[in-house]
Amino acid sequence: MRVNSILPGDCVEELKKLPENSIDLIFADPPYNMQLKNALYRPDNTKVNGVDDTWDRFSSFAEYDEFCTAWLRECRRVLKDSGSIWVIGSYHNIFRVGNIMLNLGFWILNDVTWHKTNPMPNFLGKRFTNATETLLWCAKGESYKKYIFNHKIMKRYNGGKQMTSVWRIGLCTGEERLKGENGGKAHSTQKPEELLKRVILSTTKRGDIVLDPFFGTGTTGAVAKKLKRGYIGIEKEPEYIALAKNRIDGIKTFFPEADWEEEETGKRNRVPFEVLLRERLIQAGEQLYARKTYNAAAFVLSNGKLEYKNQTGSIHKIGALIQRTPSCNGWKFWYIMRGDKSVLIDELRNEYLQGKRGI
Ligand SMILES: C[S@@+](CC[C@H](N)C(=O)[O-])C[C@H]1O[C@@H](n2cnc3c(N)ncnc32)[C@H](O)[C@@H]1O
Repeated sequence: MRVNSILPGDCVEELKKLPENSIDLIFADPPYNMQLKNALYRPDNTKVNGVDDTWDRFSSFAEYDEFCTAWLRECRRVLKDSGSIWVIGSYHNIFRVGNIMLNLGFWILNDVTWHKTNPMPNFLGKRFTNATETLLWCAKGESYKKYIFNHKIMKRYNGGKQMTSVWRIGLCTGEERLKGENGGKAHSTQKPEELLKRVILSTTKRGDIVLDPFFGTGTTGAVAKKLKRGYIGIEKEPEYIALAKNRIDGIKTFFPEADWEEEETGKRNRVPFEVLLRERLIQAGEQLYARKTYNAAAFVLSNGKLEYKNQTGSIHKIGALIQRTPSCNGWKFWYIMRGDKSVLIDELRNEYLQGKRGI
C-alpha cells in the first residue's frame, strides 16, 4: 500500500486491492446523482455552471444505490476497527447514502451540517436557497468504540468552546479555487479546505492514513499533508489526478494545528526550566513573582532552581509550597517582569519552542 499516492481508476476496483483493516480515516465526497434534466439559466440568461459532469450521471436510483453499496462495503472492509468514515452529500443523495451505510453496519456518530455562508441563489425563485450539505460521521459499527475524537484540540480550535455539529464555512472560492485553462472552475465541486481541516483535525492523529475514494482536486490530500497526516486518493479522471498531484506537490508549509496534538499531550512542551537560562531568556538572579493571589517572589539560581525564604527547589516545588498544594505547574504559576509588563514564564517557554521550530 503506497501512502501519499493517487490511485488512478474506478474506486470500487482500487479499494478491492487495499488490505483490510488498514485505513485510519475515510473521507468520501461521492457523485451527488443530481438528476439534472435541463440547463439552468440566471435571469440575465447566462448559464449556471451546475454539476452536469458525466461522472455524476446514473441511469436510475437503483444503479446509484448499487454503486454506493459497492464502494461503501469496500470502505468498511479497509477501515481499521478504530477508524471512522465521513461521507458528504446534498439532499439529492445523502438520505440514500445514509440508509445504505446503516444497512451495511456503520454507526452514525454525528450528522454535521455544512452551512454555506455564500450559497448559490435559487435563480428560479421556486424554492428556498439551498444552503447546506450534510456530513455523516460514522464508526465501523455500534460496538466499535475506539474511534478517535480530538475533543480538546477541537475545543481549542473553536476558541475554547465545544464545537457544534453546524459548521459555517463558505464555498471554495478565490485563490483556493483551482482554475482551468479558460479561467473557469477546474472542477465543479471542489470542497473548501476548512471543511477537510475540521474533519481531519478532529478524527485523526498525526501520521494517520486518510483515504479519499473520490479524490477530485485532492482537497483531502492537500489538507492531510498540511496536517502531517498521510493520504491515499482514488480518482478515475486523469485530468483531476494531474490537478491534484500538482496541488499537493506545491505544498511546502504546514498548518500550525498539525503540532497541537503534541502540545496537548505535553511532549513537545517538556522543557527543563534551566534551558531558558541557557538560552538567555531568563538570567540568574532575576525575580519570579507568584500568581496574583499569592504575594510572593523567588530568586532564580544559576542551576535553574528557585530560592524562596531559605528553601530551594524547582519552579513546580516552590509553587506548590507557596500554595500549600501537593503539586503545581510552575509554568502557569510564575511571572517575570519584562519592561513594565509581568509575563507568565510559560510565554517565554513558548517563545523558546517557537524559535526551535523556526516559526
Ligand atoms: C464530488 S467530486 C469530489 C471533489 C473533491 N472532494 C474535491 O474537493 O475536489 C467526485 C469525484 O469522484 C470522481 N469519481 C466519480 N466516480 C468515480 C469512481 N467510480 N471511481 C473513482 N472516482 C470517481 C469524479 O471524477 C469526481 O472528481
